[in-house]
Amino acid sequence: MQTRLCPIGEESLKDAARIIASGGLVAFPTETVYGLGGNGLDAKAVLSIFAAKERPADNPLILHIRDVSQALPLCEWTEQAGILARAFWPGPMTMLLKKKPAVPDEVTAGLPSVALRIPGHPSALAFLEAVGLPVAAPSANRSGRPSPTLARHVFEDMQGRVPLILDGGACAFGVESTVVDMTGSAPLILRPGAVTCEQIAMVLGECGVADSVMRPLRDGEAAPSPGMRHRHYAPRAEMTLYEGEPEKVAAAIRAACEKESGACVFALTDHLDRYKGLNVRDMGKDAAEAAHRLFYLLRDMDDENIRYIHSETLPPTGLGLAVMNRMARAAAFRTVAVS
Ligand code: TXA
Ligand code: MG
Repeated sequence: MQTRLCPIGEESLKDAARIIASGGLVAFPTETVYGLGGNGLDAKAVLSIFAAKERPADNPLILHIRDVSQALPLCEWTEQAGILARAFWPGPMTMLLKKKPAVPDEVTAGLPSVALRIPGHPSALAFLEAVGLPVAAPSANRSGRPSPTLARHVFEDMQGRVPLILDGGACAFGVESTVVDMTGSAPLILRPGAVTCEQIAMVLGECGVADSVMRPLRDGEAAPSPGMRHRHYAPRAEMTLYEGEPEKVAAAIRAACEKESGACVFALTDHLDRYKGLNVRDMGKDAAEAAHRLFYLLRDMDDENIRYIHSETLPPTGLGLAVMNRMARAAAFRTVAVS
């Protein structure tokens, strides 16, 4: 299959709508990461998304919709969902709600809940408008690779597997949406993202974070979200995170790098000076910049055949929690506490 990479415009959107209507797949930009979309009401199209990504069949997909009216036939809508939707949609938040029978079991991997999101990127909304159907879309990477934040990343992973990639430039946030489970007695974050726990608690009065967000699952422990069972966002290099006082972290990282060849350091902008003479990458000055750069940096590590990554960490609050959740998984939870 030939893969076309096209800027978003009237013609490419018409093509995209035609492809989705006939059961095919189109990759499209969102404000978080690129998605790999197919008709969310067509079980065959949904199965072909799993095949193109080589995604395990037990990991359910998000349905992308353009407005709340499109959600009503898909789920049991609630008053609380309405409050969150008014506060954060269109935007980087996905809600889990009880599913209705219109949603194929292939989308939800047989689970009784369905994940819904109205993305905030104008091109994503134009795409959903042109398609006129709920679009099932996971991140457009091959399974186990970092999520794509540029159309070029999608091309690297999906060339020959999808007919069309819509190019909308770099994604604004760079980490995937917040997944919040609205099926329990209180909202519970299963995957942290740009909409924070603090923000959700502000509008709903309370919000929890699943405690497996920052640690590996224990033997036999049930995953609150199937996505947590799989090792995501993994670079080929062995990644280690360092926590502690910045001067001491820098000394520990320097000592580790001196013992290895093929090592690279991820450091915050203000700390770059401490890593002179080493192969160092700038993570940015804060959590927002780190979110924007992380997946891009991880892909670079693969391209450059880096064997070890030693990384500074951020406080796990606000958007920092989303960044640390992705980094902890990329590092297979290998963390050194420096004292
Ligand atoms: O920002 C995003 O959310 C991007 C863009 C394309 O919208 N999409 C994305 O999709 O990251 P994906 O498939 O890579 O991640 C969806 C996550 C997975 O961890 C999955 O397990 C979880 O949401 N999920 C989806 N449906 C679920 C359900 N019914 N119950 C529990 N978890 C669910
Ligand atoms: Mg993904």
